[in-house]
Order: sequence, then structure tokens, then C-alpha cells
Amino acid sequence: MVAPANKIDLRTEFCGLIFPNPFVLASAPPTASGAMIKKAFKLGWGGAVIKTLKPDDMQIVDVTPRFATLKSSHGETIGFENMELVTKRPLGIWLKEIREIKSEFPDRVLIASIMADIKKESWQNLAKAAEGAGADAIELNLSCPHGMPERGIGAAVGQKPELTKLITSWVTEVAEVPVFIKLTPNVTDIEPIAEAALEGGADALSAINTVESMMGVDLDTFVPMPSVDGSSSYGGYSGMAVKPIGLRVVSQLAKWGQLPISGIGGISHWEHAVEYMLVGASNVQICTAVMLKGYGIIHDLIKGLEQYLEKKSFTSVKEIIGLSLPKIIAHSSLDRSKAMMAQVNQEWCTGCNLCVTVCEDAGYAAISGGPNKTIYIDSKKCDGCSLCTHVCRRKALNMVVNPVRKEIRG
Ligand SMILES: Cc1cc2nc3c(=O)[nH]c(=O)nc-3n(C[C@H](O)[C@H](O)[C@H](O)COP(=O)(O)O)c2cc1C
Repeated sequence: MVAPANKIDLRTEFCGLIFPNPFVLASAPPTASGAMIKKAFKLGWGGAVIKTLKPDDMQIVDVTPRFATLKSSHGETIGFENMELVTKRPLGIWLKEIREIKSEFPDRVLIASIMADIKKESWQNLAKAAEGAGADAIELNLSCPHGMPERGIGAAVGQKPELTKLITSWVTEVAEVPVFIKLTPNVTDIEPIAEAALEGGADALSAINTVESMMGVDLDTFVPMPSVDGSSSYGGYSGMAVKPIGLRVVSQLAKWGQLPISGIGGISHWEHAVEYMLVGASNVQICTAVMLKGYGIIHDLIKGLEQYLEKKSFTSVKEIIGLSLPKIIAHSSLDRSKAMMAQVNQEWCTGCNLCVTVCEDAGYAAISGGPNKTIYIDSKKCDGCSLCTHVCRRKALNMVVNPVRKEIRG
């Protein structure tokens, strides 16, 4: 790879494929047709995973409505639940569109997500058809948590190592392009599933698919959300709220270290993408943020990443991949030699006394309110938990080394 002159090199290599930038549309509504993917590519997206393809004899009827959201107190959508199934469109139309997309955008990476019943022929036919039409890679959807598991597929496969290995091996037996396995976070331990994918011949892992969830319950009608004519079902949770789960899974996979990873889950800003790369993702996939704001977020994603790399004196994306991994250690190995405590910046304090309340009711009663909106922190009582710094809306509290307590309480 030769870096473009005077520019940060945003290109990333993944299983031998070169992405012009690490931002990829995840398999979901933003990749629901060829026309949509072309629009996104025109705006600068580096790659796209097609909304999961299925054999024509698999019946797909979506429920309406099928989305529900969790809002912050400012009205921002921070969590998103869906009960949507895979594509409803005939395979033949998709194959034509794959050819068109690849001929118009040969430099972008087009990945075909596929799902079939547990029949070798169905998986192999789908993979061969997508590859024959020009898909650069195949992603196996072994991870949809709603609807499909009732039919024994989706997450019902990705929760079982033996089935994961079997289906992966069926596809890798016939595919010449790289095969990615999209993993579900709805498992107790991700490593045996990753091992099974590796044994089945996978080239890479994509993580995470959505987290099985229930968004809420309508207190008047008693129907969980979203209500489909008075009833509901479990759905898949995505958006910003799942980023901590995605980061945990991706970092665990990266520490396992046997396959490259495409990081997914709650990426809404360039900073989130950088976090995923720091914990080991070679590129990132995005769905919910595009559903909430449109393809145009690619401009801020690219600009933000470029500026960050420049500011930190990196010249390419690959230099940051996995940089945080050595800093993720066992809990028992974390430093216990320094006792920390909270410190207040009185200029920022408004005297709301929320820190006093939470320290009394859920901490160590180390904070007391003084006259003129001042607060006082008792270094002998403060246990250094940091709760007060998280509830302070003005960021008037921060953590420093405790000058009094040298030892940490046992
Ligand atoms: C409405 C909706 C439909 C989705 N459909 C698919 C799908 O067909 N295939 C798939 O592999 N993942 C599907 N996903 C999961 C996304 O690709 C992605 O893994 C997940 O939403 C987490 O990323 P995000 O937080 O950026 O949305 C869907 C997600 C949503 C919200």
C-alpha cells in the first residue's frame, strides 16, 4: 500500500481486502437495496455489508411496527430495539445489484451477509451466488437474536460452537473470497464460539450483532414495546447503549487474537470508532447511527479520524489497532498501591449538594456541604470510589491521590 502524499492514510487492510477508509455500513436497513448502498458509496463510505440475503424459498414477513427507542433526558436516542428479520427481496434482484454496485464502485468493499436454514446446500448456494455476482467477502449471520432463532437459525447457531463450526465449514468449503462470521453477544463466553469459527475455516469475525432485549412496557396497556397489535416479543438492542458490550466483546476477541475483527455496536461518532480500533478492530461497521442521522455522518467520521490521527502523530489507521489491549488486565492485577480520593473545584461547584447526598446514601459519608455553596471532602473517610465525580453535572469533582490515607482499605 502506498500512502497518498501529504495525507493521513485511512486505508485499512482486512483479509487481503483494501478498504479506502475503515467505515463500513453494517448489514441492516441502510444497506437494504443497491440504490441505497450506491448513495452511501457516493458520499464516501469505505464498504458495506448487504442486508442479510436468504434463499428465495425462505419466507420473510416483517411485523409492523418493529422498532422502539430509549431516550436520554435530553430526548436523544441512546438505545434502539428492532424486531426486523432479514431481507425480503428476491436473491436474483440482489445478485444483479451486487454486479452493478461493484462495476460502479470497484474500489469499495462489498460484503454479502447470508443466512439459510441448516442445510448445507442452501448455505453453499447463497455463498456461491453472492461471490459469483462479485461480492468481495461473505459474512455469515449466525447472530440475529429475534425471530430467526425460533426457526433454529441466527443466534441459535451462533450460541452453539458445534453449529457455528459446521456452517462455517460448509461455506468455507466452497467460498474463494474471505468468510467473516458475525457473532452474537448473547453468550456467556465468546471464546469457544470464536474457536469454532476458526476451526470451521473463518477468515475474520464481525462483532457484535444486537443484544437480546425488551425496551419497556406500556403502563396503561401492559404491552411491552414495540406493541404489534397488542402483543410484543423480544428484540435486538443496538445504538450507543450497546457500545460498552461491543467494546468488551471485541477486546476479548482481540486478546484471544486468532482472527482479525470488524468492530460493531453503538458507533455514533469518530471517537467511538477509534475506541473500537484501539481495542483491536481493523475496521468498524455502523447501523443505528445511520438510521438516526443518515449516511452524511461519514463526513464527520472521516474528518474526525483524520484530525485525531494527525494530532496524535500517527500517519495511518493501522498504527492504532490494538494499542489499548496491553492496558486491559485481570482485575486481580490492578494497582492497589495508591489510595485515591475526590477533590472539588469550588469555582465550578453550584452547591446543589447531590454529591453530598449520594456519598451519604451510597458511599462513605465523606462529603459535607459548607456555607456559601462550598463542599468539604474528608480525606480520612473518602474511599476513592469516584461516585461523586459521576453525578456532578458541572464536573466540579475529580480524583487525586489521597495525601492522608496511604493504604487502601481491605
Ligand atoms: C433494524 C435493524 C436491522 C438489522 N438487520 C440485520 C441483518 O439483516 N443482518 C445482520 O447481520 N445484522 C442486522 N442488524 C444488526 C446490525 O448490523 C448491527 O450489528 C447492530 O445494529 C449493532 O450496530 P449499531 O449499534 O451500529 O446499530 C440490524 C440492526 C437493526 C437496528
